[in-house]
Amino acid sequence: MPYPIPHDGPVGAMLESVDRSPVRAAHLHFMVTADDLRTLVTHIFVDGDPQIAIGDSVFGVKESLIKQFTQQDPGTPTPDGRDLGDRSWARARFGIVLAPAGT
Ligand SMILES: [Fe+2]
Repeated sequence: MPYPIPHDGPVGAMLESVDRSPVRAAHLHFMVTADDLRTLVTHIFVDGDPQIAIGDSVFGVKESLIKQFTQQDPGTPTPDGRDLGDRSWARARFGIVLAPAGT
């Protein structure tokens, strides 16, 4: 879900001065770690979110980070086997490549 960053102080004044929305595009954060590889902290964005065209408030959107999310019907087991009952959920598939540590 899109959400606004705090914009009641100097950040809000700066955003207003450049006529920029405080709303972030819908995104999902990740921190991926593995032995002997560099830690990756990133996020992906939801393809089709109208806020992407309006503009992410912190300039975080890159084309390579926009991913297709596929809605799953209620009753579809989650990847870890949970049953969410009558709630639906969304699935996204993408690859992550970690660089060797020290690079
Ligand atoms: Fe966030």
